[in-house]
Amino acid sequence: VVLGPQASSGTQATAWLAHFLLCFVVLGANSPTCPKRIDVKVGDKVEIPSCSTAGITESYWKYEGDKIVQDLQVKPSRFKERIVTNDTTYNLILSGVTQQDSGTFGFFSSMENNQLPTSKMSLSVTEAITRIDAREINSTWDPDASKCEIWLKCTALHSESGNSVNYTWTIGNETNTGATFRYVTTEGEDTGKCTASNPVSEKSASVQVDCRNSTQDGGTCGKQTGLSVLFIYLF
Ligand SMILES: *[C@@H]1O[C@H](CO)[C@@H](O)[C@H](O)[C@H]1NC(C)=O
Ligand SMILES: *[C@@H]1O[C@H](CO)[C@@H](O)[C@H](O)[C@H]1NC(C)=O
Ligand SMILES: *[C@@H]1O[C@H](CO)[C@@H](O)[C@H](O)[C@H]1NC(C)=O
Ligand SMILES: *[C@@H]1O[C@H](CO)[C@@H](O)[C@H](O)[C@H]1NC(C)=O
Ligand SMILES: *[C@@H]1O[C@H](CO)[C@@H](O)[C@H](O)[C@H]1NC(C)=O
Repeated sequence: VVLGPQASSGTQATAWLAHFLLCFVVLGANSPTCPKRIDVKVGDKVEIPSCSTAGITESYWKYEGDKIVQDLQVKPSRFKERIVTNDTTYNLILSGVTQQDSGTFGFFSSMENNQLPTSKMSLSVTEAITRIDAREINSTWDPDASKCEIWLKCTALHSESGNSVNYTWTIGNETNTGATFRYVTTEGEDTGKCTASNPVSEKSASVQVDCRNSTQDGGTCGKQTGLSVLFIYLF
């Protein structure tokens, strides 16, 4: 069960629900399927399932090869103050996760000197996308084709950089992946929508684009032209 400290927005709630369902499936009914990978966001509390069956007489948890829990006792490590174990499920509960906690956790156990199957899970801690900026870079009217070429750009922001983000642009009847999108359209208005997502969050933003026949005013069209005209009238 993954619980962010401030599960406020719809996105966070959805992510929480997804993780809850994942854990429910994993932990319910002694399912033999254990997650190979667990995605959480910075600051979350995460329960890493041992995926074990009953009858354990000895056990330990390892993180990247180092023993961090032996027979349910938390050993000195960088996790010491943040780990709690469950003596029924042998699950490991880690709170206040950071990006540096990303790595492989392994649960090793035996029943009366017979080794039981080992469970290994990779924990991936990602920064949630906090803000997204969708904008028009430029817009050019092509008088020969009677069309506009509009360049759109989407940027997702986190408090730290270095996270991989997927971008999807949808406008008119087109859908395109990638942060930058070249949209060719005829005269008229359109709303472009960009969705940025990473394994722990998703955010969307819209931008209004306007394609005008601007043959007379030097071959540019769209928002910028409209704005500069407005400024001329104001001052
Ligand atoms: C351990 O897990 C069991 C089963 O999910 C739960 O009922 C119990 O409350 C947990 N105990 C602790 C200390 O978290
Ligand atoms: C519009 O922006 C795109 C992407 O930055 C660039 O490749 C293109 O040359 C620009 N077009 C004009 C007319 O400035
Ligand atoms: C765009 O405007 C020019 C100049 O007013 C005109 O000659 C041309 O026919 C227009 N093109 C379209 C597609 O309306
Ligand atoms: C989108 O619609 C235009 C006409 O409205 C059509 O010419 C074009 O082929 C369509 N593009 C796709 C990807 O369906
Ligand atoms: C981006 O999308 C691809 C294909 O859907 C997926 O495999 C990949 O994990 C995604 N990456 C991120 C950072 O969400």
